[in-house]
Amino acid sequence: MKNIMVLPGDGIGPEIVNESIKILDFVSSRYNLKITYEYGDIGGIAIDKYGIPLKDETLEKCKNSSAVLLGAVGGPKWDSTVPEKPRPEDALLRVRKELGLFANLRPIKIYKPLISSSTLKEEVIDGVDILFLRELTGGIYFGDRKRLSDEKGEYAYDTEKYYKYEIERIAKLGFKIARSRGKKVTSVDKANILESSRLWRETVKKIHEDYEDVQLNHMYVDNTSMQLIRNPKQFDVILTSNMFGDILSDETAMISGSIGLLPSASLREDSLGMYEPIHGSAPDISGQGKANPIAQILSLAMLFRYSLNLASQADMIEKAVNTVLEKGFRTADINTGENKLVSTTEMGDLILNEIKALG
Ligand code: IPM
Ligand code: MG
Repeated sequence: MKNIMVLPGDGIGPEIVNESIKILDFVSSRYNLKITYEYGDIGGIAIDKYGIPLKDETLEKCKNSSAVLLGAVGGPKWDSTVPEKPRPEDALLRVRKELGLFANLRPIKIYKPLISSSTLKEEVIDGVDILFLRELTGGIYFGDRKRLSDEKGEYAYDTEKYYKYEIERIAKLGFKIARSRGKKVTSVDKANILESSRLWRETVKKIHEDYEDVQLNHMYVDNTSMQLIRNPKQFDVILTSNMFGDILSDETAMISGSIGLLPSASLREDSLGMYEPIHGSAPDISGQGKANPIAQILSLAMLFRYSLNLASQADMIEKAVNTVLEKGFRTADINTGENKLVSTTEMGDLILNEIKALG
């Protein structure tokens, strides 16, 4: 029996999670999969209900589950610059850290039917297939930070800290993944300035000795952000730290036309993983039926693939998404005018119907 912990979160989170649950329900009953799921609160909704963004009890349930399916957290309602105030994002970082989900996979592909909705030229993006591998439980996200004062006034600091073992395990995974794809890893750092980046580069080089069939190059983060727009086809696997990965993966997402299309998987050595869209809670469009559920639905596909070891069901979901796009259906974020504009639930139903037709 597999148990999925479902955390819809804030903003558009609940709406798009609903659409993937429809698909989960259908696929599990159609194939007689022994899957149960349970809902929990995370982020702003948990702050409103319990005063904290994540209850220990919810975290425990995540730890004991086979996989976590997450919507999105955060919103202006809970934004604050007061350090002591609970923040929705703290909950997300806590789940990542306490579950030890050190590897964040963000695949970036071009959907042919959507090629014109990218802001980049077709010849630049046609054929792009990048796997973004972001370190997720280290670096500045978890380093020491403080707000203090001295004779010059108030100041604050954050610390970028990486242990060698943290770099080693993500690098190994990067090379392994590259072996199953284009056999090329670009390791991104700022080794011309940061000591943590120098350790990063040195360690990645060392690990590479065991993976010499994979091509490795090193690139500074500033140059990478330029190269991603100039010639994204040069990349296969991009391996980078938590912070650089956060920034560059949003940029890379835009190559595909909309961040509303891109899923992610956060993994560790065993099969437990957390699956969530790359995008945030989009409070500006929440509750209006405008949100694109595709990134969430593709996150469910990744859950089938990596945590449940059900690759054929994952393929099926991905294929259904592609077919619906080929047929010209679009949510507002990817609508270029000449398509059939649909709502969140209509998009979910269209994908579900394609899955029904396939299976
Ligand atoms: C992401 C998000 C999160 C992050 C936020 C919501 C904390 O931007 O998953 O990329 O910064 O990691
Ligand atoms: Mg981000």
